[in-house]
Parts: sequence; structure tokens; C-alpha cells
Amino acid sequence: MTLTLRYMHNADIPEVVSIEQASFRPAWSSDSYRFEINRSQCSYMVVLETAIEQPTTGLRRLINRVRGKENGTVKNALLGFGGLWKIEDEAHVSTIASHPAYRGKSYGEILLAGMIRRAIDLEAGYIVLEVRVSNTVAQNLYHKYHFDIVDIKRGYYQNDNEDAYDMRVELTPANRQKLLGLYAAIQQKVPFVDSYSMVKHPRLNR
Ligand SMILES: CC(C)(COP(=O)(O)OP(=O)(O)OC[C@H]1O[C@@H](n2cnc3c(N)ncnc32)[C@H](O)[C@@H]1OP(=O)(O)O)[C@@H](O)C(=O)NCCC(=O)NCCS
Repeated sequence: MTLTLRYMHNADIPEVVSIEQASFRPAWSSDSYRFEINRSQCSYMVVLETAIEQPTTGLRRLINRVRGKENGTVKNALLGFGGLWKIEDEAHVSTIASHPAYRGKSYGEILLAGMIRRAIDLEAGYIVLEVRVSNTVAQNLYHKYHFDIVDIKRGYYQNDNEDAYDMRVELTPANRQKLLGLYAAIQQKVPFVDSYSMVKHPRLNR
């Protein structure tokens, strides 16, 4: 199974929004994603994609066999997505989600490691993010990547008033090395093609 990390395109939006709606309350709309991809001056959106083989069934399979045509088609599917904002010295993980049917398979980690490498390549000084205090799965992932809790934002999530932890990792030379080491380790564990983390944004050209 080939995995590819690449920039998000407009054509990805329906699949992204479907993962978004299964992952977040409140959820970002299609328009938010359209803005991030096409208008924002600071947004580096990413998806993790795979190619899934779909068997041909029923009458179509028989017709293909009679005509000597191959059965089965290959369809690309998204396993997750993320968003990184880069403003001056700050990089900000704006969103990250893996497909609910494929959690716990390192896909969220690949997305985070890719965004961190993108932030390092863009010469950010530090990376920040907010996470629900109840979201221990995501917090474990961030701790693994050396984020620390630096603050608590009371009632940050307006739909239910839950608090957020502010988490942050400084991109010191020592931390950069550790983070790039983690990137290399996850690349080795779950190989993926990376057309994102060291590749210029197609519109922003940086
Ligand atoms: C958070 C999220 C992106 C993690 O992605 P994932 O693909 O499920 O996780 P991965 O398989 O990549 O695991 C990476 C790390 O996360 C942590 N983790 C993953 N699943 C976990 C679980 N069930 N319990 C505890 N920690 C877990 C571990 O630290 C793990 O590292 P390890 O494999 O070395 O133990 C995913 O659960 C998700 O999309 N959640 C809903 C959206 C969300 O909460 N996003 C974060 C907003 S701040």
C-alpha cells in the first residue's frame, strides 16, 4: 500500500469534510477549507493519501473477462489531513485528524511529523497548538513530539465550554534534531512518499 503525504487540493475537500465531521465539534466547513487552500497567506494544508484497489463485481466483471479487460480499479482515498499556519517565527498546528476507520495505525503521527518538518524547513522558531483537556490520545502524540503544556485556555471551545491546553515545542537545534529523528523513525516504520514537508507550497512558493 503506497502512502503519500502531499498538499491538500480543492478536489480533496468533500473527503476532508467527511473526516472532519466525524472528528470535530464544531466542524470546519467546506468554505473554511477552500479559504485555507486558495486564499490564506500562511496556511500549509496537508493530506495523507493511499491507493485502494476496488474489485469489479457482477455483470461488469463478466463483460470485462469476455472483452479481455483487466478487472479491478484503483481509487485514491484520504487517511487523514492536517493544517499548519506559519506567521513570522510561529508555526501553529491548526488542525489534524486521521480517518476514524484507520486510527492507531500511525497515520496521525505521519501527518504531525510531516507538518513539524515543514515548520523546520520554513525556519519557524517554535510550534504551538491547542488541544481539548479531555483529548489524551492527541496529547500523547504531542508529548511524543516533545510538546509541553504551557498554558490553559479556559472555555476555549465555545460549543461546550471545554478548556484547551496550549502546547508548545521550541525549535532549538537540539529539539530540531530530536524531531527530525522521530520523522526518520516513523518513515522507516511506515514508509511513505513525502511530497509535502520539504516541498514549496504551490501557490505561496515558499
Ligand atoms: C489524534 C489523532 C490525530 C491521532 O492519530 P492516530 O492515527 O489515531 O494515532 P497514531 O496511530 O498515529 O498514534 C500516534 C501516537 O498517538 C498516541 N495514541 C494513538 N492512539 C492512542 C490511544 N488509543 N490511546 C492513547 N494514545 C494513543 C500514541 O502516543 C501514539 O504513539 P505510539 O504509536 O508510539 O504509541 C486521531 O486520534 C484523531 O484524528 N482524533 C480525532 C481528531 C483530534 O482529536 N485531533 C486532534 C485535535 S487537537
